[in-house]
Amino acid sequence: MIPLDSRLVRIVSRIKDRSLRRKVDGLLRNPTIKIGGRSFSGISIEKSPASIRHHHNYPGGFVEHTIALYELCMSLSRIVRRIYKCKVNTDLVICGVLLHDIFKPTTYEQIGEREYRRSTLAERVDHLTLASAELIRRGFPLDAVHVVTASHGQQYGPIGPMTIEALICHLGDYAEAKLNGDMLSAARFMIREVTGEEPLTLSGKEAFAIVRAKTDRGWDGLKDYLSNRGMLTNRKVQVR
Ligand SMILES: [Fe+2]
Ligand SMILES: [Fe+2]
Repeated sequence: MIPLDSRLVRIVSRIKDRSLRRKVDGLLRNPTIKIGGRSFSGISIEKSPASIRHHHNYPGGFVEHTIALYELCMSLSRIVRRIYKCKVNTDLVICGVLLHDIFKPTTYEQIGEREYRRSTLAERVDHLTLASAELIRRGFPLDAVHVVTASHGQQYGPIGPMTIEALICHLGDYAEAKLNGDMLSAARFMIREVTGEEPLTLSGKEAFAIVRAKTDRGWDGLKDYLSNRGMLTNRKVQVR
């Protein structure tokens, strides 16, 4: 068995249904897929980004996105229960959180320390189709297949959310990806403004800290912040 990040192990353990928990655990520990006699495994989920471009595009991004999404989806589930007085199947929500992007790392190739590209597999089949196919092959229940298949929503996926659990996962995923992605682009813009250069890589935590520094202390404060962290080059900088 491949060791799994302890934070993910804890989330898996919250699935009450034993059979579903085992299936989720099995796929998380071995996210490989066989097509035409070839087995595809990509990069490890611990090291993988959650997206190559828009959000969590750095090592560890996949796990960070999954943990944040878990918190968000548990809050949404609580709202549905406490405010709208409606039952939520938390097992299905957790299954969606853990598996909705499970074949993204399988479709990535690492080309530099923090650089990735889509693999030959990704050029032929998208990660969501792979996930739907493999969940069905592994005998996941229909509603568990649905939370994953509907995670991109009506506009960007094969089907929109038709259950409360699928809607929670889809909305959570959209909000969490946007929270991270918007911070990364804002921080990248701010670094460009101060240094005149494109930052090579930026983590979610760094992006939030940079936007915080600019919000609280203005452009001069941001310049100090970047300089203290050795992120200012010798290029002439013009602070607005
Ligand atoms: Fe996705
Ligand atoms: Fe996602």
